[in-house]
Amino acid sequence: MFQKKRKKSWQEKVKEVFNSYYRCEIDDAFTRQFYKNLFFLNPKIEKYFDKTDWIYQRKALVHALDNLFHFLDDPENTHKKNQIIRIAKTHSKKNLNIHPHDYYYWIDALILTIKKFDNKWYNSLEFYFRECLFFPISFIISLYHKEKD
Ligand code: HEM
Repeated sequence: MFQKKRKKSWQEKVKEVFNSYYRCEIDDAFTRQFYKNLFFLNPKIEKYFDKTDWIYQRKALVHALDNLFHFLDDPENTHKKNQIIRIAKTHSKKNLNIHPHDYYYWIDALILTIKKFDNKWYNSLEFYFRECLFFPISFIISLYHKEKD
């Protein structure tokens, strides 16, 4: 089956992704749904969170998502880059030890959640999200083995 070609530039895709994310109300319902999806997609992950303070964690996620999407918009900005590096450090092998493979489920859980909360969702957005998120997530994964600052 032939599909219409996706012709948008990187900047246009980032904009589509950014707009979709901001159409969602990123509240408690959103973050609860996100973790529900994450644990559904890979039940093993739930064990990582058995001592988690959920009030703190949900707020931290809202803040981190904001940083992630703002980084896409302006990746050369040192402050925005440092926010991504900070997440990479807390999640690296020597700290939380989040295996690179786990990001696969994290991305899927995020897309599933946004799909549910964005009332103007359309199918190509899924490809735009995957393409745009590949950049910061692969950057985070590249620092997984880093021992020193
Ligand atoms: C880009 C993707 C991710 C972002 C933006 C993110 C964001 C965060 C943030 C902001 C925190 C709070 C601590 C901190 O500020 O570092 C955190 C903690 C945590 N994250 Fe992530 N995370 C990501 C990916 C993942 C993945 C893939 C997993 C595992 C499947 C994971 C598991 C955890 C765990 C276990 C904690 C600690 C919870 C606790 O304090 O008990 N994260 N994450």
